[in-house]
Amino acid sequence: MRTLAPSPPAWPVTGHFYRLRNDVLALMTEGVRDHGDVVRFRVGPLVMHLVNHPDHVAHVLIRQRQNYDKASRSSDCLALICGESLLTANGATWKQRRRTIQPMFHRAAVAGFIDSIAACTDDMLDAWAVKAKAGEPVEIASEMMKLTFRVVGRCLFGTELEAEAHAVEDAMHVMVLHTYYRWRSIINSPSSWPTPANLRFKKALADVDAIVARLIAHHRANPPATPNLLTMLMDSRDGETGAALTDEEIRNEAIAFLLAGHETTANALSWTLYLLDRHPQWADAIRAEFQQTCGDAMPQMEQLPQLVQTLHVFEESTRLYPPIWAMERHAVAADEIAGFHIPANSGVIISPYTLHRHPAFWDAPEEFRPERFLKRDHDAYYPFGSGPRFCIGSEFALAEARVILPMILRRFDLTGEPGQTVEPEPAITLRLKHGFRVRLKER
Ligand code: HEM
Repeated sequence: MRTLAPSPPAWPVTGHFYRLRNDVLALMTEGVRDHGDVVRFRVGPLVMHLVNHPDHVAHVLIRQRQNYDKASRSSDCLALICGESLLTANGATWKQRRRTIQPMFHRAAVAGFIDSIAACTDDMLDAWAVKAKAGEPVEIASEMMKLTFRVVGRCLFGTELEAEAHAVEDAMHVMVLHTYYRWRSIINSPSSWPTPANLRFKKALADVDAIVARLIAHHRANPPATPNLLTMLMDSRDGETGAALTDEEIRNEAIAFLLAGHETTANALSWTLYLLDRHPQWADAIRAEFQQTCGDAMPQMEQLPQLVQTLHVFEESTRLYPPIWAMERHAVAADEIAGFHIPANSGVIISPYTLHRHPAFWDAPEEFRPERFLKRDHDAYYPFGSGPRFCIGSEFALAEARVILPMILRRFDLTGEPGQTVEPEPAITLRLKHGFRVRLKER
């Protein structure tokens, strides 16, 4: 007799559809609070399990990973934007791409990005100085999206994406929400139907496609002296056939990296600045540490390990507001987790958002306490995933955080505008639903 995992109350046919659609963070939080570490959700015939224990995470992402691939509904939705790419591929294709791209993200390669990260930040801060003088507020979520997009442009594509930053921010916003709405709506009209939402998505995709096509053409016409992600993709050859990647394959990877490389970090930085507004003693700690380590100079890679408090603040922020709040896998064959039946072809969800609040692993989980990261190796901490599909850009993101946050705080006091509501919006990444507006004062 198969034992079914417990499940929150559901409607007879639609199951958990409405709450998954409108209230997913609360549904998952209550699910694990009331029913334990394996919770079953259902929408019509679709079944998904949320697994909320480090042992179950290791089961799905490491030990039994052959049975849990990325042919999931969320991957299908992401593939509408970036086709088959490192984010969405499985098996041999994924393995070969990962091997090709990995050197771009080794620590030594990331060291070469530091100057570009600092220069992009400095440009943004100069623009902020003008706003500060005029007494204009800035909207942090949007500023961070533009900044991290420019950083990705310079570091990964060797290109200034200044002019495109605004257009891409808008287009990415449309695409990310569209794919997320498709994921949570479960039953959708075919994407080829000319509904207003599909047309908006198509236009946004065409805008981003045009930018990426220009980048590829520019690289072909003027090969850069220093290799970057695009040149590595263009130069890569299949180990067996010797075939190069097609333009479409290169396009898919480029868009995957534009998406994965800027939106996640932007949200993490925005949440961190929001938390620092509420805990100003940590902003002061970051300033003091940066002054002691770098003085008035630009930070260097070898100084980053000394920015310990900055790292702990960022770690605590990504604990409370993990940009990737859910990772989905597809169970190829039936399995059992903690004695509960996992049917073949069902979904399995790992949520850093709920795991990072698991009371068995975190004291006072809702509180912002960066000092908890003085103790290393937290069992239930997965901001960058786990196993072979661990985030390829984690070193890059951690370097960005330790350059961008102290540079901002060294130059400005930020004060959140009173009366605004700051709340999470779980799209593909955990966004700030209404952004976060601050007043600036140059120091
Ligand atoms: C704070 C920032 C970031 C967070 C929280 C984050 C989080 C994650 C997570 C949780 C995964 C695993 C997803 C899964 O297993 O389903 C992942 C994968 C990935 N990330 Fe990141 N990421 C961040 C920054 C970046 C950056 C800066 C880049 C690139 C420049 C990047 C590129 C990727 C790619 C390509 C994958 C897929 C890797 C694979 O499947 O082999 N990420 N990320």
